[in-house]
Amino acid sequence: MPLNFTCVERSQFKGEKDTLALFAWEQERLDTDGWFDTKKESHLKTVVQREGFKGKPGDCLIYYPENSLPCSRLALVGLGKKKEADLNSLRSAAGKALKASVRQSETLWVGLPQWSERTPLENVAQAIIEGAGLAEYEYLKYKTNGETRGEERILKNVQLVAEKTSDAARANAGIARAAIAVEATNFVRDLVNEPPSFKRPIELAKIAKNLANRHIKVKVYTKPEVERLGMNAFLGVSRGSSHDPVFVHLVYRPEGTPKKRLGLVGKGITFDSGGLNIKTGNNMTTMKLDMAGGATVMAVIAACEKLNIPHEVQGFIPFTENMPGGNAYKPGDVVRALNGKTIEILNTDAEGRLVLADALSFAVKQDLDAIIDLATLTGAVLIALGDLITGLMSNNDKLAQEFETAAKKTGEKIWRLPLDKDYKERYKSKVADMANIAARAGTPGTIGAGLFLQEFVSVKPWMHLDIAGTAWADTESVLQTAGGTGAMVRTLLEFLAN
Ligand code: BES
Ligand code: ZN
Ligand code: ZN
Repeated sequence: MPLNFTCVERSQFKGEKDTLALFAWEQERLDTDGWFDTKKESHLKTVVQREGFKGKPGDCLIYYPENSLPCSRLALVGLGKKKEADLNSLRSAAGKALKASVRQSETLWVGLPQWSERTPLENVAQAIIEGAGLAEYEYLKYKTNGETRGEERILKNVQLVAEKTSDAARANAGIARAAIAVEATNFVRDLVNEPPSFKRPIELAKIAKNLANRHIKVKVYTKPEVERLGMNAFLGVSRGSSHDPVFVHLVYRPEGTPKKRLGLVGKGITFDSGGLNIKTGNNMTTMKLDMAGGATVMAVIAACEKLNIPHEVQGFIPFTENMPGGNAYKPGDVVRALNGKTIEILNTDAEGRLVLADALSFAVKQDLDAIIDLATLTGAVLIALGDLITGLMSNNDKLAQEFETAAKKTGEKIWRLPLDKDYKERYKSKVADMANIAARAGTPGTIGAGLFLQEFVSVKPWMHLDIAGTAWADTESVLQTAGGTGAMVRTLLEFLAN
């Protein structure tokens, strides 16, 4: 069951049986004003000192009050130094408070912290709920033991507490946005974490179909229809699998005339074995993640409707496995993409750019104002930027900058890489218009893949997000269990809100 998130004013606080979380700044006086009299609760001061609680980022102190406190548990969570903290500090601190309460209390009350006046209260409340909602996520679907299934989780509500009624109303606006963003992020995490044999193209198409409503139309192209469309690069990739590919086209239309018309293209490889250029050992273990881009497109379109996004947003997802079956496409094969360009396959593991070539060509035909694609495209981006920073490439500075502004607000990290045209000639083929990998050493994998995709968007404002590093977390952190992350969902929603 999803948690209930709301904000009430102080007079409605009734947390006698619950946990109350208060934020604490490092090197500042502990602000418990209005909550309780620190003098009466002198033991708290002793505990704070003995435990060495300083309000540093990651600090979390649980205190069981003697008498004067209005709650049964107090969680003090550190935000760090005032001049170093940003909304990510708040997300993490809220995540800490949540993790310390999920098996302990039915309701977690959270006192809204004093924050810089430059940040609207809506955004402060939004960050807290995002932190709580992201930290709450666990993937328990296939656990059978009660304890590991999380059956002792008792938390139902997260209630922010504001000083004034007007503050509570503003906070609730931010909370509503956060709840939708969290739901969308966790939807992607669930789909990425799902075992690959349970999320074949047809199953994911069903999930897409279920998103249809008054504002969202969903069309699923089956294999014969994809053949008729002429998506031969995409079909080539699918040939080694015994499960048919599907192409999903979603359209969200707002009430009234849309401000802009935008396209989102997502890589939807439900499992990437590498094909005949098969991946080895550990390189294959996480390859159920290779549909993260497609899952993100579905999640964002579903959220557009809930957020009343003012733009028309279309989604394009080629779903297929990349397998080495008897009919698999081979190195040396040539495929003709939807836009007529021919591609020589030199490596069957560079399949993402092939399915995207057709999906981008299809999107271009819809005459949209801009196209954004998301793909777990290259292992190289993990080497360049690691697992915390998404690689951005674009043929349009304004689009890239607007997206960077959105990312600053959500705290998701991105870094733009140059689509230097001098690398393009390395994708020449002896027999076709281009090859799917570069022949020459010294070619940057991530930029090269971006240049390849650029050939299929012609002059449209376009942006490519390589989420191969960020879509997956190997190790757990406060806001993130190991596995799918839902990277870029929140930033896309922030970007689309304007
Ligand atoms: N799905 C992979 C990229 C990937 C690697 C995602 C690691 C997440 C983690 C992609 O299809 C791939 O295999 N790319 C190759 C391209 C190469 C053959 C040019 C790669 O990056 O090694
Ligand atoms: Zn691959
Ligand atoms: Zn792949």
